[in-house]
Amino acid sequence: MIPVWAQVCYVVAAVCFILALKGLSSPKSARRGNLIGAFGALLAVVVTFIAYDIDNLGWILAAVAVGAIGGAWGARRVAMTAMPQLVALFNGVGGGAAALVALLELSEPARAGLVKPDGFFNNDAGWFAYSPLNDESGGHSLEELERLAQLLTTGTLTATAFTILIGAVSFSGSVITFLKLQELMTGRPITFPGGPFVFGGVLVAALGLGVWTVATGSVTLAIILAIVGLLAGVLLVLPVGGADVPIVISLLNAFTGLAVAAGGYVLENALLLVAGTLVGASGTILTRAMARAMGRSVSSILFGAFKGGSTAGGGEASDRPVRSAGPDDVAIMLAYARRVIVVPGYGLAVAQAQHTIRELVDLLEKRGVEVGYAIHPVAGRMPGHMNVLLAEANVPYEQLLEMDTANGQLRTADVALVVGANDVVNPAARTSPGSPIYGMPILDADHAGAIVFLKRSMRPGFAGIENELLFDPKTTLLFGDAKASLTALVTALKSL
Ligand code: TAP
Repeated sequence: MIPVWAQVCYVVAAVCFILALKGLSSPKSARRGNLIGAFGALLAVVVTFIAYDIDNLGWILAAVAVGAIGGAWGARRVAMTAMPQLVALFNGVGGGAAALVALLELSEPARAGLVKPDGFFNNDAGWFAYSPLNDESGGHSLEELERLAQLLTTGTLTATAFTILIGAVSFSGSVITFLKLQELMTGRPITFPGGPFVFGGVLVAALGLGVWTVATGSVTLAIILAIVGLLAGVLLVLPVGGADVPIVISLLNAFTGLAVAAGGYVLENALLLVAGTLVGASGTILTRAMARAMGRSVSSILFGAFKGGSTAGGGEASDRPVRSAGPDDVAIMLAYARRVIVVPGYGLAVAQAQHTIRELVDLLEKRGVEVGYAIHPVAGRMPGHMNVLLAEANVPYEQLLEMDTANGQLRTADVALVVGANDVVNPAARTSPGSPIYGMPILDADHAGAIVFLKRSMRPGFAGIENELLFDPKTTLLFGDAKASLTALVTALKSL
């Protein structure tokens, strides 16, 4: 039995997790929220080491050291644009760990010689009669045998099977999302004839194996269940196109939360239950919010490719003529505008041009130009990507305009300065029912008096589709890396 002081510490840790989530809801308090959450996690880990009588402590501490060093190194090195992949990896590891812990827990009663009483609905308390052991043999105390027998009750076995299946799905699915976003495999949807039937068959097999595992408490069946779960995770993510992958990461994150929560039930650990439920709930809300921001349902994201509707990565550059200009001409356009709305996108993050754009905006404001940043909820590659990036450059929060406000202001703006963004200003989302992004709410850059795109080439955005706005007579392109172009604009503005 875990001591009361440790349980109190677990409650403190759980409160930290809740405060962390609250803090993360605003860019101003996000850093503090993150620290509070990290403190809660540290407290939980330290208390667990002290309060429990742990075997193999040396090995565990060595594993913790390897994980902590690897995690800190990876997180410090990773580029902001690669954050979704990192989150996918961390999340997958969490799901895999939950599945492994559940498998180990299930194997414990078997190692002690306990078997589940015959029959699905048998009296759960009848375990002792079926046990070849008693408190005299096998070195197990009666209390320990009772704890192990509890693992074979129908309720606990259901939670165990759930953790194994969902944890395995989350692990393999997250690995595939990592490979896709890291471009170690194609970002396009991978489909094959009969795919939905194969996936359906795997789900039915998983369900059957789950029920069988609960009925028998068999470790072998649980291992097969884990393997089928791994297969289900791969089949779930393969048909998802590159642009939708971050949403699936969030969905798998919610899966991991549920697996961990069920693991908490198996281990009778209230903190795991609370933490898993928080992750499950917040992951689900985030998934829905991201899907809504892209104007798509979660089911069309997961299964759209089978109907030919999901978005794809890649895409060819167009060779149609466009109007391009140099930094001096664009600087004049900006300097003599009354209102400029900056539309930042993924390219701004790639170029790490957040400080340079702020410098440019400061110069424009000094000249009396009214400037705001239009923030699309899915600009970049993860939720809040642009907010975080611009906050890093100390852009005042008041200058960040949410989509509806931004669209109101774009109507009266003289220039929409689109920096490394593409899909989030593509009017096809409003006008082309056949387009993969049709229905996605967009920033109406096309309503501004003039549009300036800062990008390197005519290549399309993440959705892999052409943007007609690039060919609009109101549009001017300044080709080049966003940071280099913005630096040139700053120099040109200073010399005006
Ligand atoms: P994208 O449509 O991907 O466009 C980015 C543009 O940046 C490209 O046109 C690219 O053109 C340009 N670019 C890349 N590197 C650059 C550099 N170094 N300097 C200058 N330009 C550069 O980005 P977006 O408008 O931000 O849209 C986000 C996309 O991600 C959407 O399709 C969205 O659905 C998807 N997505 C986002 C999220 C979240 S939550 N953010 C989640 C799921 C999906 P060049 O190659 O020609 O330079």
